[in-house]
Amino acid sequence: MGRKKVALIGGGQIGGVLAQLCALRELGDVVMFDIVEGLPQGKLLDIAEVASVDSFDVSLQGTNSLADIKDSDVVIVTAGLPRKPGMSRDDLIATNAKIMKSVSEGIKQYAPNSFVIVISNPLDAMVTLCQKITGFPYNRVIGQAGVLDSARFECFIAWELGVSVKDVTAMTLGGHGDDMVPLVRYASVKGIPVMELLEAKYKDKAKAKEVMEAMVKRTRGAGGEVVALLKNGSAFYSPASAAISMAEAILRDQKRVLPSCAYLNGEFGVKGLYLGVPCVIGAGGIERIIEFKLDAEEQAMMDKSVAAVENIISVMDKMEF
Ligand code: NAI
Ligand code: 2OP
Repeated sequence: MGRKKVALIGGGQIGGVLAQLCALRELGDVVMFDIVEGLPQGKLLDIAEVASVDSFDVSLQGTNSLADIKDSDVVIVTAGLPRKPGMSRDDLIATNAKIMKSVSEGIKQYAPNSFVIVISNPLDAMVTLCQKITGFPYNRVIGQAGVLDSARFECFIAWELGVSVKDVTAMTLGGHGDDMVPLVRYASVKGIPVMELLEAKYKDKAKAKEVMEAMVKRTRGAGGEVVALLKNGSAFYSPASAAISMAEAILRDQKRVLPSCAYLNGEFGVKGLYLGVPCVIGAGGIERIIEFKLDAEEQAMMDKSVAAVENIISVMDKMEF
């Protein structure tokens, strides 16, 4: 039995970390494609040369020929421009839609049975476009946003409460934008609601609410916070780790429950739209969407997020590329 094959489309900041994580976790042989000559070859040579130290046994190939992604099991797409300070994710649409169209045509041609994980921004629109161009079934085209947005929320909660992040569980739903929906009601430390812990810490309900609101706001703006610090690019370690957890769930049939950008066909009252929701991810890609009832406040936030995603999709639908 041959090894699995993972194709990385885009060899920039996120692509490089993806390749290293694929190798360290031995997810499969890695092919990285980029249009810049020498970039994918150089990065993968760099990673390959330390295989004896890191003790991994996979092959790593950098290429400028999309045909080399042939018969990949999982394809992760980061091709496209990242944000610069002052830019929203949506500002990237004109350039990145053209890129996404061309790489999706290549994926359809060379890796017709693959599972595709899209990272490029604006995320919800790029996943929608990738599925449309490849024509792959919805369970095989997924977007990465919720794993990262949720991890950021968990990180801020752990810092605030002074507990290990390993014991924090929290989740965001909705689009990968400032209107995402961090679920306060379900945020917990080993099952104990975070709001209860904040109230115990501050002995003041209003203060606890204020602290939670600040964490929600920081989660929504977390991508922009990194962009403002880096000044020339966006987060790359964290989106790579997040996408690798999704790829690993597929390749190892883990049945992980991961918030992912999935096509909704009536779930959460939304039809015909890609949106962030909890999904069971395994060998069948998105095997199931986990539905639950939102309360009125969560539903209002979800409605706002849906409207924002619909808006960017309608902008994309009017574009010619
Ligand atoms: P980057 O600029 O470092 O890398 C992008 C790479 O894409 C470049 O190497 C470029 O040469 C390549 N590229 C351009 N056109 C291509 C084509 N037609 N085929 C193959 N490669 C092509 O950007 P970075 O930081 O790696 O980010 C990639 C994307 O991910 C951006 O759109 C960014 O906004 C998005 N992003 C998404 C996140 C998420 O959670 N979904 C989080 C952070 C960034
Ligand atoms: C992020 O969330 C910019 O989408 C990118 O870091």
